[in-house]
Amino acid sequence: MMKKKQNIFYCFAAKKSFLEAELLLDFIDIHTHYLPGVDDGFQCQADTIAALEAMRAWGVKRIYFTPHVMADLPANRVPFLKEQFVGLALKIPEGMEVRLGAEYMLDASFYVREEEGLLFLGDRYVLIEMSYLYPSPELDQIVYNLQIRNYIPLLAHPERYLFLNEKKHEELRDRGCRYQLNLMSLSGQYGVRAQQVAWYLLQHGMYDFVGTDIHRLPVFRRSMERLKLTVPEEELLHRLIRQNELLW
Ligand SMILES: [Fe+2]
Repeated sequence: MMKKKQNIFYCFAAKKSFLEAELLLDFIDIHTHYLPGVDDGFQCQADTIAALEAMRAWGVKRIYFTPHVMADLPANRVPFLKEQFVGLALKIPEGMEVRLGAEYMLDASFYVREEEGLLFLGDRYVLIEMSYLYPSPELDQIVYNLQIRNYIPLLAHPERYLFLNEKKHEELRDRGCRYQLNLMSLSGQYGVRAQQVAWYLLQHGMYDFVGTDIHRLPVFRRSMERLKLTVPEEELLHRLIRQNELLW
């Protein structure tokens, strides 16, 4: 009996948390909400800088800021976001590189933003999102528009959409959408369903890139401490993390 208990203890001890596994070393974060006060992410510059310092201590050196761009946030147009970005970029921790991207909601405002000029990840990836509850009626048209311009739609957190099943994930990927995993989905931060779907998609090689989608540092830290990984899981994530280098 004692021996069995020791074995169980060993099994738990063998798993490292995401942070203990040092998976953020040289991580390029492609999905974040650090720009203060422009969306539901960080609300003051002091919190943003503190979070960037923590990220740098964990090994993150390159970050895209990707504020929400949507009909509900009409101020978030390129000139305004660039102005906010330049103001913050002067104050980021030494040794860190930052770029401005965006996370585009697939609503009717997208067409206007598209005409004004999009903010990309890499030279042609466009980070897009939808409501979690129902499919966007604009999805087909927007994916088509992007592809005829030789841009690549990158769907943020596909694991979180309640209306996407296994078949629909395959259809979307076949139509040229690339997939971005939210790290916090793996720990159950967005519920059991998103967690299960995230692990399924990860283990079936259906993710192309990975981001934190950080809105608050304490939430991210707790989530990453909770995320315990076996060695094969660590390796799987490490391989995905390295793919982000294609976007810098
Ligand atoms: Fe986001």
